[in-house]
Amino acid sequence: MTVGVPKEIKNNESRVGMTPAGVYELVKNGHTVYIQSTAGEGSGFFDADYKKAGAIILDTIGQVYAMSDMIVKVKEPIQEEYQLVQPNQVVFTYFHFASSEPLTKAMIDSSAICIAYETVEDDEGTLPLLTPMSEVAGRMAIQQGAKYLEKPVKGRGVLLGGVPGVAPGKVLVLGAGVVGIQAAKMAAGLGAHVTILDINMKRLRYVNDVMPPHVVTEFSNEFNIRKHIKDHDLIIGGVLLKGAKAPNLITRDMLKEMRAGTVIVDVAVDQGGCVETTRPTTHEDPVYIIDDVVHYSVANMPGAVPYTSTMALTNVTLPYVLKLADLGWEKATETDASLQKGLNIVKGKVVYEEIMEAFGWEPVMA
Ligand SMILES: NC(=O)c1ccc[n+]([C@@H]2O[C@H](COP(=O)([O-])OP(=O)(O)OC[C@H]3O[C@@H](n4cnc5c(N)ncnc54)[C@H](O)[C@@H]3O)[C@@H](O)[C@H]2O)c1
Repeated sequence: MTVGVPKEIKNNESRVGMTPAGVYELVKNGHTVYIQSTAGEGSGFFDADYKKAGAIILDTIGQVYAMSDMIVKVKEPIQEEYQLVQPNQVVFTYFHFASSEPLTKAMIDSSAICIAYETVEDDEGTLPLLTPMSEVAGRMAIQQGAKYLEKPVKGRGVLLGGVPGVAPGKVLVLGAGVVGIQAAKMAAGLGAHVTILDINMKRLRYVNDVMPPHVVTEFSNEFNIRKHIKDHDLIIGGVLLKGAKAPNLITRDMLKEMRAGTVIVDVAVDQGGCVETTRPTTHEDPVYIIDDVVHYSVANMPGAVPYTSTMALTNVTLPYVLKLADLGWEKATETDASLQKGLNIVKGKVVYEEIMEAFGWEPVMA
Protein backbone atom coordinates (compact mmCIF):
# COMPACT_ATOMS: atom_id res chain seq x y z
CA MET A 1 0.00 0.00 0.00
CA THR A 2 1.09 3.61 -0.51
CA VAL A 3 0.81 5.71 2.64
CA GLY A 4 1.01 9.51 2.54
CA VAL A 5 1.74 11.96 5.34
CA PRO A 6 0.92 15.59 4.45
CA LYS A 7 2.15 18.62 6.37
CA GLU A 8 -0.55 19.99 8.69
CA ILE A 9 -1.79 23.35 7.43
CA LYS A 10 -4.24 24.21 10.21
CA ASN A 11 -3.23 27.38 12.06
CA ASN A 12 -0.55 26.75 14.71
CA GLU A 13 -0.50 22.98 14.19
CA SER A 14 3.04 21.62 14.27
CA ARG A 15 2.31 17.96 14.98
CA VAL A 16 2.79 15.36 12.24
CA GLY A 17 0.96 12.08 11.62
CA MET A 18 4.02 9.81 11.54
CA THR A 19 7.54 9.74 12.94
CA PRO A 20 10.55 8.16 11.18
CA ALA A 21 9.99 5.11 13.43
CA GLY A 22 6.55 4.65 11.83
CA VAL A 23 8.00 4.97 8.35
CA TYR A 24 10.59 2.34 9.21
CA GLU A 25 7.92 -0.17 10.32
CA LEU A 26 5.74 0.39 7.25
CA VAL A 27 8.66 0.11 4.82
CA LYS A 28 9.82 -3.05 6.62
CA ASN A 29 6.36 -4.52 5.89
CA GLY A 30 6.74 -3.73 2.17
CA HIS A 31 4.74 -0.48 1.98
CA THR A 32 5.71 2.78 0.28
CA VAL A 33 5.59 5.93 2.42
CA TYR A 34 5.38 9.47 1.00
CA ILE A 35 6.17 12.33 3.35
CA GLN A 36 5.54 15.93 2.33
CA SER A 37 8.73 17.94 2.56
CA THR A 38 9.15 19.66 6.00
CA ALA A 39 6.01 17.92 7.38
CA GLY A 40 7.84 16.84 10.53
CA GLU A 41 9.99 19.90 11.16
CA GLY A 42 7.69 21.41 13.79
CA SER A 43 7.98 18.19 15.79
CA GLY A 44 11.74 17.90 15.41
CA PHE A 45 11.81 15.38 12.52
CA PHE A 46 13.57 16.43 9.33
CA ASP A 47 13.32 15.19 5.74
CA ALA A 48 16.71 13.51 6.08
CA ASP A 49 15.43 11.50 9.10
CA TYR A 50 12.42 10.28 7.13
CA LYS A 51 14.55 9.47 4.06
CA LYS A 52 16.92 7.45 6.22
CA ALA A 53 13.95 5.48 7.53
CA GLY A 54 12.94 4.67 3.93
CA ALA A 55 10.39 7.37 3.02
CA ILE A 56 10.10 9.18 -0.29
CA ILE A 57 9.89 12.96 0.17
CA LEU A 58 7.35 14.80 -2.01
CA ASP A 59 7.33 18.56 -2.58
CA THR A 60 3.64 19.37 -2.43
CA ILE A 61 0.57 18.42 -0.46
CA GLY A 62 -1.24 17.80 -3.78
CA GLN A 63 1.29 15.10 -4.73
CA VAL A 64 0.91 13.38 -1.34
CA TYR A 65 -2.88 13.15 -1.64
CA ALA A 66 -2.77 12.20 -5.33
CA MET A 67 -0.24 9.36 -4.89
CA SER A 68 -1.41 7.68 -1.66
CA ASP A 69 -3.91 4.89 -0.96
CA MET A 70 -4.03 5.99 2.68
CA ILE A 71 -3.46 9.40 4.26
CA VAL A 72 -2.27 9.51 7.88
CA LYS A 73 -2.39 12.89 9.58
CA VAL A 74 -3.31 14.66 12.83
CA LYS A 75 -6.07 17.24 12.37
CA GLU A 76 -9.20 17.09 10.26
CA PRO A 77 -8.75 18.29 6.66
CA ILE A 78 -9.42 22.03 6.42
CA GLN A 79 -11.25 23.63 3.52
CA GLU A 80 -8.16 23.91 1.27
CA GLU A 81 -7.68 20.15 1.60
CA TYR A 82 -11.26 19.06 0.85
CA GLN A 83 -10.64 18.87 -2.91
CA LEU A 84 -7.41 16.92 -2.44
CA VAL A 85 -9.04 13.87 -0.83
CA GLN A 86 -9.47 11.10 -3.42
CA PRO A 87 -12.36 8.67 -3.94
CA ASN A 88 -11.70 5.33 -2.14
CA GLN A 89 -8.75 6.84 -0.28
CA VAL A 90 -8.47 5.93 3.40
CA VAL A 91 -8.03 9.01 5.61
CA PHE A 92 -6.95 8.19 9.18
CA THR A 93 -6.91 11.26 11.45
CA TYR A 94 -8.89 13.23 14.07
CA PHE A 95 -12.11 14.39 12.39
CA HIS A 96 -14.60 15.48 15.12
CA PHE A 97 -17.30 15.39 12.43
CA ALA A 98 -20.18 16.23 14.79
CA SER A 99 -18.74 19.71 15.27
CA SER A 100 -18.54 20.55 11.53
CA GLU A 101 -21.27 20.04 8.97
CA PRO A 102 -19.19 21.50 6.08
CA LEU A 103 -16.37 19.01 6.79
CA THR A 104 -18.85 16.13 7.02
CA LYS A 105 -20.49 17.08 3.71
CA ALA A 106 -17.10 17.49 2.02
CA MET A 107 -15.95 14.05 3.14
CA ILE A 108 -19.26 12.49 2.01
CA ASP A 109 -18.72 14.12 -1.40
CA SER A 110 -15.12 12.89 -1.55
CA SER A 111 -16.19 9.18 -1.45
CA ALA A 112 -13.21 8.50 0.81
CA ILE A 113 -13.08 6.10 3.77
CA CYS A 114 -12.80 8.30 6.85
CA ILE A 115 -11.55 6.57 10.00
CA ALA A 116 -11.58 8.93 12.99
CA TYR A 117 -8.98 8.62 15.76
CA GLU A 118 -11.44 9.96 18.33
CA THR A 119 -14.02 7.19 17.87
CA VAL A 120 -11.65 4.19 17.93
CA GLU A 121 -12.80 2.51 21.15
CA ASP A 122 -11.37 -0.44 23.07
CA ASP A 123 -13.23 -3.25 24.92
CA GLU A 124 -13.40 -1.22 28.14
CA GLY A 125 -15.09 1.69 26.36
CA THR A 126 -12.04 3.96 26.55
CA LEU A 127 -10.75 5.93 23.59
CA PRO A 128 -7.10 4.91 23.14
CA LEU A 129 -6.29 7.50 20.47
CA LEU A 130 -7.69 10.38 22.54
CA THR A 131 -6.09 9.41 25.86
CA PRO A 132 -2.54 10.60 25.09
CA MET A 133 -3.75 14.08 24.15
CA SER A 134 -5.73 14.30 27.40
CA GLU A 135 -2.59 13.23 29.24
CA VAL A 136 -0.63 16.03 27.57
CA ALA A 137 -3.36 18.62 28.20
CA GLY A 138 -3.82 17.58 31.84
CA ARG A 139 -0.13 17.97 32.60
CA MET A 140 0.13 21.20 30.61
CA ALA A 141 -2.84 22.67 32.48
CA ILE A 142 -0.73 22.95 35.64
CA GLN A 143 2.26 24.46 33.80
CA GLN A 144 0.01 27.06 32.21
CA GLY A 145 -1.94 27.66 35.41
CA ALA A 146 1.25 28.16 37.41
CA LYS A 147 2.46 30.70 34.85
CA TYR A 148 -0.78 32.72 34.83
CA LEU A 149 -0.87 32.82 38.63
CA GLU A 150 2.06 35.22 38.40
CA LYS A 151 1.26 38.85 39.19
CA PRO A 152 2.62 40.48 35.98
CA VAL A 153 0.02 38.49 33.99
CA LYS A 154 -2.77 39.44 36.45
CA GLY A 155 -2.68 36.26 38.54
CA ARG A 156 -2.86 36.20 42.35
CA GLY A 157 0.91 36.13 42.69
CA VAL A 158 1.04 32.69 44.26
CA LEU A 159 3.85 30.14 43.86
CA LEU A 160 2.08 26.78 43.68
CA GLY A 161 4.69 24.91 45.67
CA GLY A 162 4.99 27.57 48.40
CA VAL A 163 8.35 27.84 50.20
CA PRO A 164 9.45 26.80 53.70
CA GLY A 165 7.33 28.81 56.11
CA VAL A 166 4.70 29.69 53.48
CA ALA A 167 1.76 27.43 52.64
CA PRO A 168 1.58 26.04 49.08
CA GLY A 169 -1.03 27.15 46.55
CA LYS A 170 -4.36 25.33 46.28
CA VAL A 171 -5.51 23.61 43.09
CA LEU A 172 -9.12 22.52 42.50
CA VAL A 173 -9.52 19.87 39.78
CA LEU A 174 -13.01 19.25 38.36
CA GLY A 175 -13.17 15.71 36.95
CA ALA A 176 -10.97 12.77 37.92
CA GLY A 177 -10.61 11.38 34.40
CA VAL A 178 -7.46 11.37 32.28
CA VAL A 179 -7.03 15.16 32.27
CA GLY A 180 -7.92 15.49 35.97
CA ILE A 181 -5.60 12.79 37.22
CA GLN A 182 -2.63 14.03 35.19
CA ALA A 183 -3.27 17.58 36.38
CA ALA A 184 -3.55 16.45 40.00
CA LYS A 185 -0.34 14.47 39.69
CA MET A 186 1.58 17.46 38.31
CA ALA A 187 0.18 19.85 40.90
CA ALA A 188 0.93 17.42 43.72
CA GLY A 189 4.45 17.00 42.35
CA LEU A 190 4.99 20.75 42.65
CA GLY A 191 3.87 20.53 46.26
CA ALA A 192 0.48 22.23 45.82
CA HIS A 193 -2.53 21.23 47.90
CA VAL A 194 -4.99 19.52 45.51
CA THR A 195 -8.75 18.96 45.79
CA ILE A 196 -10.21 16.74 43.06
CA LEU A 197 -13.95 16.35 42.49
CA ASP A 198 -15.89 13.80 40.45
CA ILE A 199 -19.33 12.21 40.41
CA ASN A 200 -17.86 8.78 39.71
CA MET A 201 -16.98 7.08 43.01
CA LYS A 202 -14.80 4.50 41.24
CA ARG A 203 -12.57 7.29 39.95
CA LEU A 204 -12.42 8.96 43.37
CA ARG A 205 -11.51 5.66 45.06
CA TYR A 206 -8.75 5.14 42.52
CA VAL A 207 -7.36 8.66 43.06
CA ASN A 208 -7.55 8.18 46.80
CA ASP A 209 -5.58 4.93 46.52
CA VAL A 210 -2.78 6.16 44.27
CA MET A 211 -2.22 9.83 45.16
CA PRO A 212 -0.26 11.28 48.09
CA PRO A 213 -2.22 12.58 51.12
CA HIS A 214 -2.13 16.21 49.95
CA VAL A 215 -4.48 15.22 47.10
CA VAL A 216 -7.95 15.16 48.63
CA THR A 217 -11.02 13.69 46.89
CA GLU A 218 -14.57 15.00 47.29
CA PHE A 219 -17.84 14.31 45.57
CA SER A 220 -18.71 16.83 42.86
CA ASN A 221 -21.83 18.89 43.58
CA GLU A 222 -22.70 22.57 43.53
CA PHE A 223 -22.33 22.92 47.29
CA ASN A 224 -18.76 21.60 47.29
CA ILE A 225 -17.79 23.56 44.19
CA ARG A 226 -19.09 26.84 45.69
CA LYS A 227 -17.18 26.09 48.89
CA HIS A 228 -13.84 25.40 47.20
CA ILE A 229 -13.72 28.12 44.54
CA LYS A 230 -13.47 30.72 47.34
CA ASP A 231 -10.03 29.66 48.53
CA HIS A 232 -8.42 27.74 45.64
CA ASP A 233 -5.88 29.61 43.50
CA LEU A 234 -6.04 27.51 40.35
CA ILE A 235 -9.09 25.67 38.99
CA ILE A 236 -8.75 22.99 36.29
CA GLY A 237 -11.82 21.97 34.23
CA GLY A 238 -11.41 18.34 33.13
CA VAL A 239 -15.02 17.17 32.98
CA LEU A 240 -16.47 15.09 30.17
CA LEU A 241 -19.92 13.71 29.46
CA LYS A 242 -19.30 11.45 26.45
CA GLY A 243 -20.72 12.92 23.27
CA ALA A 244 -22.43 15.82 25.05
CA LYS A 245 -21.65 19.41 25.95
CA ALA A 246 -19.76 19.70 29.22
CA PRO A 247 -21.99 20.77 32.14
CA ASN A 248 -21.53 24.36 33.44
CA LEU A 249 -20.20 23.53 36.89
CA ILE A 250 -19.00 27.10 37.44
CA THR A 251 -21.61 29.69 36.54
CA ARG A 252 -21.03 33.38 35.85
CA ASP A 253 -22.25 34.47 39.32
CA MET A 254 -19.66 32.22 41.00
CA LEU A 255 -16.77 34.28 39.61
CA LYS A 256 -17.66 36.98 42.13
CA GLU A 257 -17.02 34.51 44.96
CA MET A 258 -13.44 33.87 43.79
CA ARG A 259 -10.48 35.96 44.86
CA ALA A 260 -9.01 38.41 42.31
CA GLY A 261 -6.30 36.69 40.29
CA THR A 262 -7.74 33.19 40.59
CA VAL A 263 -6.87 31.27 37.41
CA ILE A 264 -9.23 28.89 35.59
CA VAL A 265 -7.77 26.52 33.00
CA ASP A 266 -10.82 25.00 31.29
CA VAL A 267 -9.38 22.04 29.40
CA ALA A 268 -12.92 20.90 28.56
CA VAL A 269 -13.27 23.92 26.26
CA ASP A 270 -13.40 21.62 23.21
CA GLN A 271 -16.70 20.27 24.53
CA GLY A 272 -18.02 23.75 25.29
CA GLY A 273 -16.22 24.11 28.63
CA CYS A 274 -17.40 23.42 32.19
CA VAL A 275 -17.33 27.11 33.10
CA GLU A 276 -20.15 29.34 31.85
CA THR A 277 -17.75 32.13 30.89
CA THR A 278 -15.39 29.87 28.87
CA ARG A 279 -14.83 30.70 25.23
CA PRO A 280 -12.17 29.08 23.02
CA THR A 281 -8.82 30.87 22.82
CA THR A 282 -5.61 30.24 20.85
CA HIS A 283 -1.95 29.82 21.77
CA GLU A 284 -1.33 33.31 20.34
CA ASP A 285 -3.87 34.89 22.69
CA PRO A 286 -4.57 32.26 25.36
CA VAL A 287 -6.16 34.21 28.25
CA TYR A 288 -8.84 36.76 29.03
CA ILE A 289 -10.13 38.19 32.29
CA ILE A 290 -13.70 38.40 33.57
CA ASP A 291 -14.46 39.74 37.07
CA ASP A 292 -10.69 39.66 37.85
CA VAL A 293 -10.60 35.89 37.17
CA VAL A 294 -8.04 34.81 34.57
CA HIS A 295 -9.48 32.35 32.02
CA TYR A 296 -7.16 30.09 29.96
CA SER A 297 -9.12 28.02 27.43
CA VAL A 298 -6.97 26.99 24.48
CA ALA A 299 -8.82 24.40 22.43
CA ASN A 300 -5.72 22.55 21.15
CA MET A 301 -3.37 22.63 24.10
CA PRO A 302 -1.18 19.69 22.88
CA GLY A 303 -0.33 21.69 19.74
CA ALA A 304 2.03 23.83 21.85
CA VAL A 305 4.26 20.86 22.67
CA PRO A 306 4.38 19.14 19.27
CA TYR A 307 7.45 17.04 19.97
CA THR A 308 5.88 15.32 22.98
CA SER A 309 2.40 15.25 21.44
CA THR A 310 3.52 13.77 18.12
CA MET A 311 5.41 11.01 19.91
CA ALA A 312 2.52 10.31 22.29
CA LEU A 313 -0.02 10.22 19.46
CA THR A 314 2.00 8.14 16.99
CA ASN A 315 2.89 5.61 19.70
CA VAL A 316 -0.80 4.68 19.82
CA THR A 317 -1.79 5.23 16.17
CA LEU A 318 1.03 3.22 14.59
CA PRO A 319 -0.32 -0.28 15.41
CA TYR A 320 -3.61 0.68 13.70
CA VAL A 321 -1.80 2.26 10.73
CA LEU A 322 0.18 -0.96 10.27
CA LYS A 323 -2.97 -3.07 10.47
CA LEU A 324 -4.77 -0.89 7.90
CA ALA A 325 -1.78 -1.00 5.55
CA ASP A 326 -1.13 -4.74 5.95
CA LEU A 327 -4.73 -5.95 5.69
CA GLY A 328 -6.49 -3.15 3.79
CA TRP A 329 -9.26 -1.14 5.51
CA GLU A 330 -12.07 -3.68 4.93
CA LYS A 331 -10.33 -6.68 6.49
CA ALA A 332 -8.68 -4.55 9.18
CA THR A 333 -12.01 -3.13 10.38
CA GLU A 334 -13.76 -6.52 10.07
CA THR A 335 -11.21 -8.20 12.29
CA ASP A 336 -10.56 -5.40 14.80
CA ALA A 337 -13.63 -4.21 16.70
CA SER A 338 -11.82 -1.11 18.04
CA LEU A 339 -10.85 0.00 14.55
CA GLN A 340 -14.35 -0.71 13.26
CA LYS A 341 -15.69 1.87 15.72
CA GLY A 342 -13.38 4.38 14.03
CA LEU A 343 -15.28 4.11 10.72
CA ASN A 344 -17.25 7.36 10.34
CA ILE A 345 -17.84 7.86 6.62
CA VAL A 346 -17.43 5.16 3.99
CA LYS A 347 -17.57 6.04 0.30
CA GLY A 348 -20.21 8.75 0.64
CA LYS A 349 -22.19 7.20 3.50
CA VAL A 350 -22.17 8.21 7.15
CA VAL A 351 -21.84 5.01 9.18
CA TYR A 352 -21.48 6.55 12.65
CA GLU A 353 -24.88 7.23 14.16
CA GLU A 354 -23.90 10.14 16.42
CA ILE A 355 -22.88 12.19 13.37
CA MET A 356 -26.34 11.78 11.85
CA GLU A 357 -27.91 12.73 15.19
CA ALA A 358 -25.67 15.79 15.55
CA PHE A 359 -27.08 17.27 12.35
CA GLY A 360 -30.60 15.87 12.68
CA TRP A 361 -30.16 13.92 9.45
CA GLU A 362 -32.45 11.07 8.53
CA PRO A 363 -30.84 7.62 9.05
CA VAL A 364 -31.60 6.76 5.41
CA MET A 365 -28.02 7.78 4.60
CA ALA A 366 -26.52 5.34 7.12
N1 LIG B 1 -8.23 21.72 25.36
C1 LIG B 1 -7.51 20.72 24.90
O1 LIG B 1 -6.52 20.89 24.21
C2 LIG B 1 -7.90 19.32 25.26
C3 LIG B 1 -7.00 18.24 25.08
C4 LIG B 1 -7.38 16.97 25.49
C5 LIG B 1 -8.64 16.75 26.05
N2 LIG B 1 -9.51 17.81 26.20
C6 LIG B 1 -10.84 17.68 26.80
O2 LIG B 1 -10.73 17.52 28.22
C7 LIG B 1 -11.96 16.95 28.69
C8 LIG B 1 -11.68 15.82 29.65
O3 LIG B 1 -11.11 14.73 28.94
P1 LIG B 1 -10.72 13.36 29.67
O4 LIG B 1 -9.98 12.56 28.66
O5 LIG B 1 -10.10 13.64 30.98
O6 LIG B 1 -12.14 12.70 29.91
P2 LIG B 1 -12.46 11.48 30.90
O7 LIG B 1 -13.71 10.85 30.38
O8 LIG B 1 -11.27 10.65 31.12
O9 LIG B 1 -12.80 12.21 32.30
C9 LIG B 1 -13.89 13.04 32.48
C10 LIG B 1 -14.30 12.92 33.94
O10 LIG B 1 -15.32 13.92 34.19
C11 LIG B 1 -16.15 13.35 35.19
N3 LIG B 1 -17.38 14.10 35.36
C12 LIG B 1 -18.53 14.07 34.66
N4 LIG B 1 -19.43 14.92 35.17
C13 LIG B 1 -18.83 15.51 36.25
C14 LIG B 1 -19.25 16.46 37.21
N5 LIG B 1 -20.48 16.99 37.18
N6 LIG B 1 -18.37 16.84 38.17
C15 LIG B 1 -17.12 16.33 38.21
N7 LIG B 1 -16.69 15.40 37.34
C16 LIG B 1 -17.53 15.01 36.37
C17 LIG B 1 -16.35 11.92 34.71
O11 LIG B 1 -16.87 11.09 35.73
C18 LIG B 1 -14.92 11.55 34.30
O12 LIG B 1 -14.20 10.95 35.36
C19 LIG B 1 -12.71 16.53 27.42
O13 LIG B 1 -13.67 17.50 27.08
C20 LIG B 1 -11.64 16.46 26.38
O14 LIG B 1 -12.13 16.60 25.06
C21 LIG B 1 -9.15 19.06 25.80
